[in-house]
Amino acid sequence: MAQSALACVAPDQENPELDAFRADVIEGLSSSPKALSPKYFYDEAGSRLFDLICRLPEYYPTRSELEILTARAGEISAFAGPHASLVEFGSGSSVKVRLLLDALERPAAYVPIDISGPHMRAAVARLAADYPDVAMTPVEADFTRPLHLPALEGGRRLGFFPGSTIGNFSPEAAGSFLAHAGEVLGPDSALVVGFDLPKDRAVLEAAYDDRQGVTAAFNLNLLARMNRELGADFDPAAFGHRAFFNAEASRIEMHLESRRSQVVRVCGQRFPFAAGETIHTENSHKYAVPVFLDMAQAAGWHERAVWTDSRGWFAVAMLERR
Ligand code: AVJ
Repeated sequence: MAQSALACVAPDQENPELDAFRADVIEGLSSSPKALSPKYFYDEAGSRLFDLICRLPEYYPTRSELEILTARAGEISAFAGPHASLVEFGSGSSVKVRLLLDALERPAAYVPIDISGPHMRAAVARLAADYPDVAMTPVEADFTRPLHLPALEGGRRLGFFPGSTIGNFSPEAAGSFLAHAGEVLGPDSALVVGFDLPKDRAVLEAAYDDRQGVTAAFNLNLLARMNRELGADFDPAAFGHRAFFNAEASRIEMHLESRRSQVVRVCGQRFPFAAGETIHTENSHKYAVPVFLDMAQAAGWHERAVWTDSRGWFAVAMLERR
């Protein structure tokens, strides 16, 4: 038995994350169509690949959002006021937040929340060196689940949810998340959230299927992760990266497509694949501004401002809770 197959023998009290991963994989590969949550992209290798994606010429969202945040940081700071506490959902490498920390008036605290603990803590260590007066309290958690924030005093609570990570949710789940974020942040808080806009199919599809194959490697890393952590026997060469715009649902879909008929084993269970069958690994929804604002309003948030970049490809909304 492969050593990692031990991950299948009994629930690991020490590692509830591994238990959840195993259960989700078995459920996802047993369903039809097969599907896995994109949150599992972000192990160490996946987090590193995602940082490379953000620098690809085809991947416009990061640069577009930085353009907006650079132009609007002063307005965000004016609304947040002095001594604000900044709470980031899915903080990753904590790069964009520097724009806000630089602009805010004596920010009191930074609370990054991320599922990838080691990656987050390394990022926070770099940040803490540059912002010695800001209290940093990282929370290693799946931000889609109920979570508890450390006590925050002082000024306004400012939520930050950049990158169009909200696009990974279904529209219903995105609405629930916005409501949940409102409860976590509390009355009188603000939320700055980035979302990607519908646009030309060719631009969208190139952003999720780049010429260097970095996005393909990011998608295929999920197979390597299942092999590594669950003792699965996926042959990554037997799967291909597929990304396309589903216009009806206004979303990019990413899939891993089986190149041939094959059987994969995970934790002693057999999962047959037909040639051309896929594992659906990600949805990335694109919202028109009014559609997004309706959703935010229904979740208890009011529009303070919405900004787009010079090409009209990406948007950032500043929302307030009264
Ligand atoms: C991190 C969810 C915003 O949907 O654009 C990038 C993830 N997937 N390339 C996105 C992603 C493939 C990204 N989000």
